[in-house]
Amino acid sequence: GAAVEIDITGMKPDEMRTVEWRGKPVWVVRRTPEQVAELSKLDGELADPNSLRDPSQFTPPYAQNQWRSIKPEYLVVVGICTHLGCSPSAKFEAGAQPSLPSTWPGGFLCPCHGSTFDMAGRVYKNKPAPDNLEVPPHMYLSDTKILIG
Ligand code: FES
Repeated sequence: GAAVEIDITGMKPDEMRTVEWRGKPVWVVRRTPEQVAELSKLDGELADPNSLRDPSQFTPPYAQNQWRSIKPEYLVVVGICTHLGCSPSAKFEAGAQPSLPSTWPGGFLCPCHGSTFDMAGRVYKNKPAPDNLEVPPHMYLSDTKILIG
């Protein structure tokens, strides 16, 4: 499939935009400074905090860092659960979901079997999803344009 561009002009912290790439939704999320800071504290709760499992499929080299992204502020991931392919929903607010602790720092929740992912798309431990959300191949064409694919 062809590469697609997404315009991130004027994105506000906590905002998410979606673009379709190869029939899959790709999310771009502008993380808040608090969400970025939180990422370094979650390692113990995650199944694969450093994205070492199958990096060739899920995490390109330029996203093999604590943010899983090129720029700490912007997360770019495929919005499809690595368990059986449902689409997780964004849960940015603590306490937004009754099944999650009120200390939930935000991230994504898969409605099918309850896998949870942090704000870098990293899966929490003891969840059915085996892998972190896929970071698609991408690059910045400018400060406001990302090329996916
Ligand atoms: Fe997401 Fe099963 S498809 S947890």
